[in-house]
Amino acid sequence: MTAHAFAAESRRDNVPDAFWMPFTPMRAFRQAPLLFERAEGMHYITPDGRRVLDGMAGLWCVNAGHGQAKITEAIRAAAGRLDFVSSFKMSHPDAQAYAARLCDFAPEGIDHVFFVNSGSEAVDTALKIARAYHQARGQAGRTKLIGRAKGYHGMGWGGLSVSGIGRHKAAFGPLLPDVAHLPLPYDRATMAFSRGRPEGGLAAAEALETLLQIHDPATVAAVIVEPVTGSGGVYPPPKGYLECLRAICDRHGILLIFDEVITGFGRLGSPFAAQAYGVRPDLMSCAKGMTNGAVPMGGVLVAGHVYEAFMAGPPEAIELLHGYTYSAHPLACAAGLATLDVFAEQDILGSLAKVLPLWEERAHRLKGAAHVVDIRTAGLLCAIDLAPRPGADGARGGEANALCLDAGVLVRNAGDTLVLSPPLVIARAEIEEIFAAIERALGRIG
Ligand SMILES: Cc1ncc(COP(=O)(O)O)c(C=O)c1O
Repeated sequence: MTAHAFAAESRRDNVPDAFWMPFTPMRAFRQAPLLFERAEGMHYITPDGRRVLDGMAGLWCVNAGHGQAKITEAIRAAAGRLDFVSSFKMSHPDAQAYAARLCDFAPEGIDHVFFVNSGSEAVDTALKIARAYHQARGQAGRTKLIGRAKGYHGMGWGGLSVSGIGRHKAAFGPLLPDVAHLPLPYDRATMAFSRGRPEGGLAAAEALETLLQIHDPATVAAVIVEPVTGSGGVYPPPKGYLECLRAICDRHGILLIFDEVITGFGRLGSPFAAQAYGVRPDLMSCAKGMTNGAVPMGGVLVAGHVYEAFMAGPPEAIELLHGYTYSAHPLACAAGLATLDVFAEQDILGSLAKVLPLWEERAHRLKGAAHVVDIRTAGLLCAIDLAPRPGADGARGGEANALCLDAGVLVRNAGDTLVLSPPLVIARAEIEEIFAAIERALGRIG
């Protein structure tokens, strides 16, 4: 290694693709790089000073808005106090405090949290806890994991295996065996343009019983679903659906995992979807909004009865041989504690409740706009499905996205579906700005 390798200036300044970016078409990005240099409140700011309204809360994570001073200060202070301590057989006060506060924020009966560093790690950890739980109770034959069509559970091998988005798996060869999938509880013919939750949840959830006639229920460890399908296109659960999944899992001794990486931390107007829909899972994966996106962190929230099943062996034995170097990192715990403070002190959920009716009403006013074939909302989430241009799937979504960005509004497109998930501190005028930009864009694309 030469001394130059440590120099501040790279000799390779002309190689703009040194950073191989996630989920990015590298060669297209190189032609037109999109860079944001700063962020404040509802906005990103480009290196040349252009303000862009963030319709995505970063990547579904900056729920309390960018640059929350209390969170920034907490991270700064933590870095000066304790840069790092392992969580293997030792800990630090903020980790203990944050775990307790987080369990208060979670639904009744969720009393423990296992800290990780991302949503993907949270999902893989939840799946491992589910299998290990059954093994600890003498049911080692329960290994099967049931996911759902269009589910997104991150990019670890476990999460990818239970995910329901085929193209994400295509390049990577065999995934976990012992995995099955439920259908998406959605039928455009009967559910398009539903406001809130569509009808038909009980019939949709019966698909689990059907699956359990194929896979012996005594071999199933867990069912994992996003309460509202997020990255797959914002599909709220039909009425009665989650309740019915819960009942079927109970009937067969199967654990129910909610992947709340998107729906957690206020996105649906309650701390978690479990509270918003009144259904309590056994395990919940979370990440993103935990630290307002400011420091990587994830966690698995664990119901008391699951945790207790692990506590039966000799007290000196490690109950769960699992964990990560950066589990409960001091900077992440400080950011997490400050995030909970910000939610309470700024009454983020109270203010959100006041704008949610406008969000839903304004979104659904796009019915009848060019190319729109469905609109779905849940809390401060929205998806707008566009009819694909014949022979060019995804083109309309990409063009609408680009026109919105030109107009100073950042939206996300998953193919021909436009997806919105802004910070929860959005003002009424900003809701109008987002939907007006989309409306104008749709009027301009062929
Ligand atoms: C529901 C859900 N689970 C898991 C993940 C993975 O999270 P991460 O990208 O932090 O690994 C995501 C990311 O978007 C997600 O939406």
